[in-house]
Amino acid sequence: MLNRNRKLKLYSRGNRQDVLVALFKGLTFKKGEKSMPSLPLNKKPDPLSTLPGPKGLPILGNLLQIDMQKLHLILEGWSEQYGEIYRFKMANKTVVAISNPSWIQTILKDRPDTYRRGSAIEKVGAEFESNGVFAAEGAEWQRQRHVTMQAFKTENLRRFYPELYKICERLKKRWQVFADTGQTIDIRKEWMRFTVDVTTQFAFGYDINLLEQEDDSFQRHLEKFLPVFNRRANAPFPYWHFIKLPSERAMEASLAVIKETINGFVQQTRYRLAQQAEATVQPANFLEALLLARDEAGEGLSNLEIQGNIITMLLAGEDTTAHTLSWLLYLITEHPAVQHKMQQEADAVMGADRLPQDMGVIEQFNYIEAVAQETLRLKSVTPLLFMEPIKDVEIAGISIPKGTSLMLINRFGALQEENFTGAHNFRPERWLEATPAACNHNRNASAPFGAGPRFCPGRNLALLEIKMAMAMVCKNFSVNRVETEQPVQEIFSFTMMPDNLMVKLAAR
Ligand code: HEM
Repeated sequence: MLNRNRKLKLYSRGNRQDVLVALFKGLTFKKGEKSMPSLPLNKKPDPLSTLPGPKGLPILGNLLQIDMQKLHLILEGWSEQYGEIYRFKMANKTVVAISNPSWIQTILKDRPDTYRRGSAIEKVGAEFESNGVFAAEGAEWQRQRHVTMQAFKTENLRRFYPELYKICERLKKRWQVFADTGQTIDIRKEWMRFTVDVTTQFAFGYDINLLEQEDDSFQRHLEKFLPVFNRRANAPFPYWHFIKLPSERAMEASLAVIKETINGFVQQTRYRLAQQAEATVQPANFLEALLLARDEAGEGLSNLEIQGNIITMLLAGEDTTAHTLSWLLYLITEHPAVQHKMQQEADAVMGADRLPQDMGVIEQFNYIEAVAQETLRLKSVTPLLFMEPIKDVEIAGISIPKGTSLMLINRFGALQEENFTGAHNFRPERWLEATPAACNHNRNASAPFGAGPRFCPGRNLALLEIKMAMAMVCKNFSVNRVETEQPVQEIFSFTMMPDNLMVKLAAR
């Protein structure tokens, strides 16, 4: 790949046109090449050209039709129009979009042998030195996945419960003040404070305690990452090698602070572990598990792998869970009868307690869990997954060359009548009842945590947080929506979140 200086040199030597054309065409220069590589004259016909899809413009393709913040809605809409497999173009790059749930399941399960995550994810992450298990592939992924799964074992979640309890107690105390003063609250920000506290405690055993202080600078640094990552991972060419937007410069400065913080913890933890005989140490958190991990040859993870995995855990664990909790509150304020039923369950299970005392209590919240599942079906925070075949494949009888960008429209199937009767209705009971013969309930069509060997390792932690937090909310408060000038909207920025969601709390 041509590096930035070389690209700029070529540009200033009068090859501007060549460089710009190359960027739009997505061509890369090889080392030692003086000018633009030529296009093969007898290029094979594009096997994807027979697929239906929206008409685009020369060079730009469908770029002008795509608002990145609405990407998932646009792709779901095109799926209604062009079917379960279609193509579109991001400038020179052809993308194949797939929305059929059973094809999606097959692709997700056929990893790592046939498919991988979109390679842009790995490339962009490598530039940020933030790659961990989410972006890794091949043997590296196997190794990192193994360590990650150890950290999420049920016994570790059980051991973590007292910390979760402490954080939830703080949330209750904070919200009590909001209820007493009748304050309108931006609920997404509140849930972010909660999930940042939980995830930093889980990831590196540090009590950042955003819930009890007004300084939320660490959270604000983290928040800048995914929008820039999303923009770059979907960009038709690496524009940031030439020009950086102010938001990107701000994000890079924030990332430097995040890395410094993480590396401080890594050093402290290394030092602490070195004081103990390694063989006897039981890892108390994810960072300790990473530092103690050894492969068959006795090799540990590199510093970059450790840094990348901590960043991954913070990013993967916070937004997803916080946005799901926000959507859940949105839906129950729209459906007060559901909120009432959740309160009844909290009263029945918890008795006089204001918080669930242990994991055994959490396991009894069947209705609250069904509300979470229904929220994840209707408002999946991961409505799109980016994949790529690593060999030539056939999907639904269509030949797809290796390296083609695949966009899996993961929520589409969950909103179809053929999979869920009354698909657009919020009805948590569907997850508890036996399905009547005349109704559809295809569990495989709702895969908010993915599927196959790369299935979300944080699912059980996320559900534990959601049930714990919602039991606390339902026992202690009633939640009401505050209407704003703009309606609540779905915004996509790698994960999907609500915008303009404001609520008020009343003590129960
Ligand atoms: C409601 C909350 C969450 C949702 C909806 C969610 C969803 C997902 C999805 C869809 C994937 C991709 C799965 C695939 O490729 O098949 C994923 C991967 C991942 N998630 Fe989650 N997630 C959530 C919470 C968490 C939490 C709490 C953590 C950790 C603290 C976490 C850590 C990860 C990691 C490390 C991966 C990468 C796994 C791999 O590539 O092997 N997630 N998640």
